[in-house]
Amino acid sequence: MMPETLRYHRKEEALEVLDQRALPFQVRHLRCRRASQVAEAIESMAVRGAPAIGLAAAFGLALEALHAPEGLPEAAERLARSRPTAVNLFWALERMRPLFPLPPEERAEKMLAEAETMLEEDRERNRRMGAFGASLLPQTARVITHCNAGALATGGFGTALGVLRAAREQGKELVVYADETRPRLQGARLTAFELFEEGFSFQVLCDGMAAALMRTRGVDAVITGADRIARNGDCANKIGTYGLAICARHHRIPFYVAAPWSTVDPATPTGDQIPIEERDASEVRRMGEERLFPDAYPVWNPAFDVTPAELVTAIVTETGILRPPYEESIAGYGKNH
Ligand code: MRU
Repeated sequence: MMPETLRYHRKEEALEVLDQRALPFQVRHLRCRRASQVAEAIESMAVRGAPAIGLAAAFGLALEALHAPEGLPEAAERLARSRPTAVNLFWALERMRPLFPLPPEERAEKMLAEAETMLEEDRERNRRMGAFGASLLPQTARVITHCNAGALATGGFGTALGVLRAAREQGKELVVYADETRPRLQGARLTAFELFEEGFSFQVLCDGMAAALMRTRGVDAVITGADRIARNGDCANKIGTYGLAICARHHRIPFYVAAPWSTVDPATPTGDQIPIEERDASEVRRMGEERLFPDAYPVWNPAFDVTPAELVTAIVTETGILRPPYEESIAGYGKNH
């Protein structure tokens, strides 16, 4: 059974956040009653994944409207400072902002209803994305994915993993390879958890093994999520995605990105302008409580990298499949939406 990533409890007036740091060994939850607690849950990666942090932020504002209605603009600022790369966070805050000026007696309820709608929409969009993306995969497919772009990273069903779920529902036979995804191990802990719970055929790989897998066993597709897609189709995603895309190109394997339109940022012209979060060196120096090497050794720990559009075979969205040139396919959507 897949635990829910986020659940709002109306009676308790609290957001229940699945604490993803404890998975796969423990299913435990945090209760958030204020936006600052939600911001801390995002920073510490108790909740993570681009769509999920956007949804959590929307609930964070609704909670603030309920418990401390004076502080909404500050709460929005606090949430905006939590993580810089996934544009879904800022998209969600902007979607809530028009409700700030409402009279206080109706505002909290309207904001809560909006956050609940966003959660529901996210699940529906992922299902639509899944149906489009599944059509890209052959009847039997060996697929690599990186990080976790599953139910845990979203309101439910997932983006890249949603495509694999949908393909399986259509009767396709898949073998999934989950990159472990150093340093936070979202692939080994979270993607593998989802795949195991649902009875997928899968194996976990260390990140450096993907090239050898492609060369020796054969891989039919790579599919990942994204945290922000620039106007030209450059895709920011979990560190290591770029290397995987280069390996895929060398082996002539299609590289697909699955992401909702809330991940597309037309205000950012290319990947060079996407802010890349750098996280604490301790994530690299330690594995859980265990020290891997002395604190004196310097570390570089970017949480994301950018895969240039030229390496992306197609982008799967909830409205269909985008092909290069992305500058045109993305702008075309903007005009029709
Ligand atoms: O640092 P994380 O775990 O928040 O990074 C998540 C990813 O990179 C995901 O691939 C991305 O957010 C897409 S989730 C549908």
